[in-house]
Amino acid sequence: MSNPPPTILVIFGASGDLTARKLAPAIFNLSKDNLLPENCYLIGVGRTPMEDGSFRKYLNESLSNHSRRKIGHEEWQKLESKIFFHSGAYDDLKSFGILEEKILELEKDLGKQAQCLFYISTPPNVFESILENLGESGLAKRHHGTDFSSKVIIEKPFGRDLESAQKLNYVINQRFDESQVFRIDHYLGKETVQSLLVQRFANSIFEPVWNRNYVSCVQITVSEELGVGKRGGYYDKSGALRDMVQNHVMQLLALTAMEPPSSLNPEAIRDEKVKALKAIKPLGLKGENSEIVRGVYSEGLVQGEKAIGYLSEEGIPVDSFTETYAAMCLYIENWRWKGVPFYLRSGKRLAAKASEIAVQFKRPPGILFGEDERFSLAPNLLVIRIQPNEGVTLYLNSKTPGLETKLQPIQLSFGYETTFGSNTPEAYERLILDALNGDGTLFIRGDEAEISWNLLSPILDFWDEQKTNGLENYSAGTWGPVGADKLLLARGHEWITGKAYK
Ligand code: BG6
Repeated sequence: MSNPPPTILVIFGASGDLTARKLAPAIFNLSKDNLLPENCYLIGVGRTPMEDGSFRKYLNESLSNHSRRKIGHEEWQKLESKIFFHSGAYDDLKSFGILEEKILELEKDLGKQAQCLFYISTPPNVFESILENLGESGLAKRHHGTDFSSKVIIEKPFGRDLESAQKLNYVINQRFDESQVFRIDHYLGKETVQSLLVQRFANSIFEPVWNRNYVSCVQITVSEELGVGKRGGYYDKSGALRDMVQNHVMQLLALTAMEPPSSLNPEAIRDEKVKALKAIKPLGLKGENSEIVRGVYSEGLVQGEKAIGYLSEEGIPVDSFTETYAAMCLYIENWRWKGVPFYLRSGKRLAAKASEIAVQFKRPPGILFGEDERFSLAPNLLVIRIQPNEGVTLYLNSKTPGLETKLQPIQLSFGYETTFGSNTPEAYERLILDALNGDGTLFIRGDEAEISWNLLSPILDFWDEQKTNGLENYSAGTWGPVGADKLLLARGHEWITGKAYK
């Protein structure tokens, strides 16, 4: 399945939280499944001075705390000797020279060429320095044009508006070819998100009804129970729209709405996603017909536990007007979707953690059933659960047993865990493996990031002008602000996840 060349994986921001929680466990689990190249080294880079030994210890502890499978002594020994640390400033070109020497040393020991995979998992304010110095030092163009050509993975956030995303793309394109660049969105690495393409295009029953003739609305919910926790400093400069909607939610939308690609080639898939995103009509922001809602959580009860309000969280200024919830109604102006509302929402401190795509079909004509109050004729629904309880449910109307004809919605359900068992690979395992193999299918292309910002930047500018005006409160542990319910009611719909049918 995988045959990546010998690799030197260089993680910038290696002493950070992401390395401990996600990257180190992903690398270990890939190694456990023999999916890493036989010759694979890891160099952690960070500003904190650290010896190789302390870095190894740090990774070992993070595996004990965060890996989905436990690591045995022998397995660790196999990895340990291939892990190194390099400390240096990201804006210091000399430090990149020393890094290059380390890389050359490892290649020399190996006796053959190796590809470098640079993983930028630092705070975004140093992305550009790192990219520039990878270019200046020549590391970006190592073994260029061969199977050992360098690659770079860039963590989110990819810019904070259209202008900064364009600038970042410019900096990247000066140093790397697009085929070397992997902009990560961990949602694309989730099993169920990949499975969405299979469900849509490996079954012939969906495609004929996947359009404005049969679909009444599409709803995408990505909700979290957690608040901002210790990430207040980052989150307050970001908010729900930047943190979740611009990337994860828009990706789910693109995969749901895109046309069938001509092949599974990365460019064919990404071209179709871009076409769908480009066809979205700019949103109405003002007045009665506004198509967006934003909110911020106040104190409340989340699953029975008391939760403080956003403004009382650590690191949040008292005059903050950052949204912790965003909902919107948008329209895709193409032949397939014209007139079908797509409702998107994402928020923190909501009633449950759930990432779902719900496709609501039009009601059948009420000729036989439906014009009589005995028949509660519900619309058919297809609910794709990305997480938790991964699976798919189709809601149909059925007759209840008995002499009278009464209708009731029933569910045809498929659950990943019951069918395939648990312990599916984590998103980062899949994404790191794909990047090692140079497969960009599950990564965001530069133009895709810009189109998504192009749609959302005017909303952010508008909210900046409005400050707290229009920012609704919702109690922690609920399904968000009242305005989000009204947004759908005004268009003849109701949120599916968390309310109806559950
Ligand atoms: C991250 C956001 O991208 O996704 C976080 O920055 C959020 O704020 C997280 O909590 C949610 O990811 P998941 O995989 O838990 O749904």
